[in-house]
Amino acid sequence: MNTFDKRAKEWDRLPRRVQNALTIAEAIQKKIDLDENMEIMDFGVGTGLLGFEIAKKVKKVYGVDTSKQMLEELETKNSKELSIEPVFADITKKKLDLKIDGIVSSMTLHHIENLESFFETLKESLKKGGFIAIADLLSEDGTFHSDNTGVYHFGFDKEELSTIVQKAGFDKIEFEITHTVDKPHKAFPVFLLTAFKRD
Ligand SMILES: C[S@@+](CC[C@H](N)C(=O)[O-])C[C@H]1O[C@@H](n2cnc3c(N)ncnc32)[C@H](O)[C@@H]1O
Repeated sequence: MNTFDKRAKEWDRLPRRVQNALTIAEAIQKKIDLDENMEIMDFGVGTGLLGFEIAKKVKKVYGVDTSKQMLEELETKNSKELSIEPVFADITKKKLDLKIDGIVSSMTLHHIENLESFFETLKESLKKGGFIAIADLLSEDGTFHSDNTGVYHFGFDKEELSTIVQKAGFDKIEFEITHTVDKPHKAFPVFLLTAFKRD
């Protein structure tokens, strides 16, 4: 059982976590024209806090995650009207056999060790012109998580991340600070990076 498995049942009970995903969903919709023909992947979908907001606007959302328990929680929220297809997989280890229109993600990138190969894998899963819309923490001092197990990056620097994304084969890269996650000891800025597959 990994740390997210243990936290899955409680995941949606923290209002600031739910609000964070809703704010990211709004920010994505301001930047990207989602439409009902699109197939999207939510990478690190968790219980679907972001994915279900996106699912309201598109044809299909694949929710990829390495935690069985998070995906089980997600499935309890699936309905005939609104659903996410859960995919139990680690795409840092094995590429999915999908060609999709876009990839969204909330607060998962800091759990990915090798960013260079990760963005190349994302690119291979996208159709020509497909987009990524990835939200995570701006560089932080290591105090965002009370336990940094499985945290490979203390947030991200705009220039460094944009360079990695550009080298992996994306262009029209945009980076904006959308809001802060306010914890009792500090406010942590959250960014949204959007970019499009180059060819
Ligand atoms: C901080 S949670 C964010 C969950 C959700 N996106 C949200 O905003 O509520 C990170 C999620 O990423 C998943 N995760 C971590 N490493 C992963 C990997 N290599 N592949 C897929 N999912 C991963 C975890 O299991 C967890 O559900």
